[in-house]
Formats: sequence, C-alpha cells, structure tokens
Amino acid sequence: EEEMYATYKGVYLPKVVHSSESLKYYEEFSFRPDDILIVTYPKSGTTWMQEIVPLIMSQGDPELVDTVPNWDRVPWLEETRACNLNLDQRPSPRVFITHFQYNMMSTGFFKVKPRVIYVMRNPRDVFTSYFHFSGMASYLVTPGTQTEFLHKFLDGKAIFGSWFDHVKGWMSAAEQQHIMYISYEEMILDLEASVTRIAQFLDTPLDSEMKRKIAERCVFKNMKKNKMSNYSLVPSEFMDPNVSEFLRKGIAGDWKNHLTVAEADYFDEFYRKKMQDVKYTFVWD
Ligand code: PPS
Repeated sequence: EEEMYATYKGVYLPKVVHSSESLKYYEEFSFRPDDILIVTYPKSGTTWMQEIVPLIMSQGDPELVDTVPNWDRVPWLEETRACNLNLDQRPSPRVFITHFQYNMMSTGFFKVKPRVIYVMRNPRDVFTSYFHFSGMASYLVTPGTQTEFLHKFLDGKAIFGSWFDHVKGWMSAAEQQHIMYISYEEMILDLEASVTRIAQFLDTPLDSEMKRKIAERCVFKNMKKNKMSNYSLVPSEFMDPNVSEFLRKGIAGDWKNHLTVAEADYFDEFYRKKMQDVKYTFVWD
C-alpha cells in the first residue's frame, strides 16, 4: 500500500493518478455556482453518470459522448489530468466528477455550493465490482483473496476510504438544497424515470421522446459499445480487460453470485453496526 498509495486527509489515493500538485490544484479550484459535480464512491455509477449528464445537457445530442472520452468530457477534479485541461476556460455549465468524501471537499466548494448529484450503490455490489476492478487495474494494490479484500474494504483500506464514511458524510451534508441523491439501483429499476429526475434537478426540460432516447443509449449493453465510455482506449498495462472488463456486468445484486454465506453474514453484521444511526432507508435495505 505504502508504495502505490498516497494518504490524503486519512484516505488512500493511487499515486499514479494523484500528485501533490493535483491535490493543490483541487484545493484551489474555483467553482462556479452553475457547475455540476457528480460525486460517487468508486464503483457506484460514475461512468454511467459521465454518459447520462452530458446527454441531458445537450438535449440528447450524442456528439460529445461519441467523440470525447469520458475522463475529458466529465473530468475528475482531484486527478493529475485535471491540471492540464484548462478547466477555467470551459464554458458554463461545466460538469465534473469527484470521488472525495464530504469532509475532503475544498473551502471553495462550501462557499460556492455548486449543484451535486450524489450516486450511491448497495455496498455489497460496490465491493464485488471493486474486487474485480482491483484485479484488472495495475495502479491498484492487488486485492488478494476475496475475504482479504472484504476486510480491507470494510475497514476503509481501499482507495477513497470507507464506503460507510463516504455515504454517511454526504447523506448528512449540512446544506442539501444543492444536492440530489440517487442510487444505482433506482437507475437499474427505471432509467427513464431517473433521467427525468436528473433533468429536473438540472433545470433542463426534455420531452418524453428525448428521455426515452437518452435512457436507451445509456442502458448497459448499448453504453458498453461506446469506446469513448467503455475504457477500451486505456492501454492494457493500466487496465487489463482480459482479467475483468470495466463495464463488467452492470446489474444490481451480483454480490449474491460471489459472496460466500459467511462473507455475506459478516458484511450484514458490519453494515448493521455501522449504519444503525442512519435514519434513511436505502433501496437495498
Ligand atoms: S469508477 O472506477 O469509480 O469510475 O467505476 P464506476 O463507473 O463508478 O462503477 C463501475 C460499475 O458501474 C457499472 N456500469 C453500469 N451499470 C449499468 N448500466 C450502465 N450503463 C453502466 N455503466 C457502468 C459497471 O459495469 C461497474 O459495475 P459492475 O458491477 O462491476 O459491472
């Protein structure tokens, strides 16, 4: 871990994509009130939102999502790449991504309060997706056995820290008028209704034909074909699709095919303890 990860505000970040310069850039970043920030714990629906939000903003015009890789069209603010994208010169409204926890957000964020779409996913499926991803991404510490990685994941020893801290932090944000909460499961259940909710939050009216078209483009099997979004442009020494694909399975509940009974029971007990002070009922509860 020490070699591959840096620690920033108590959580691990992979050194390959984060540097002290990029974190400084992030801390000093000037938000605008009409910025849109998609916030996720890893493996919770980031890539999906990097497709949906630009399509809503363009009223369904696919040009951007068909020609610009997702990491440039909706860049991560905390990554080294962000420093070189001239983000201050981008026209409003700009769309960004971050995996940061609530208490890792910058002073500028709390001052400007840009719109936030917070996406969450059943942590059991996050874990399953993360386990596969850790095997295929060379810039992440190899996960070890599934049980070993389960302990790391639950104890917050994965990149971006604990899922529990992430979700609890963002769920209890001090001001919530500028935050929309949505789950991966909701999007799986009814993508068109989710597109409608997001479009409303972004004050972008869409007719029903447009909503249908956007949802159709963003279903797993169609989105997986977009090489600007399926990570096939990343060299295989960084992400090896022969080990596991980035757009791997795209369903809710795949954890049932992977966790042993003992692992699932341990997870449930850990979850119950950690979440007992949370009043919110999640789709997966
Ligand atoms: S990352 O590394 O944080 O950016 O990963 P992230 O994009 O958040 O999560 C990857 C998982 O999201 C699934 N995915 C989708 N599911 C359904 N529909 C669409 N369109 C879609 N796009 C991405 C992806 O397959 C990963 O989940 P798993 O369970 O591994 O398949």
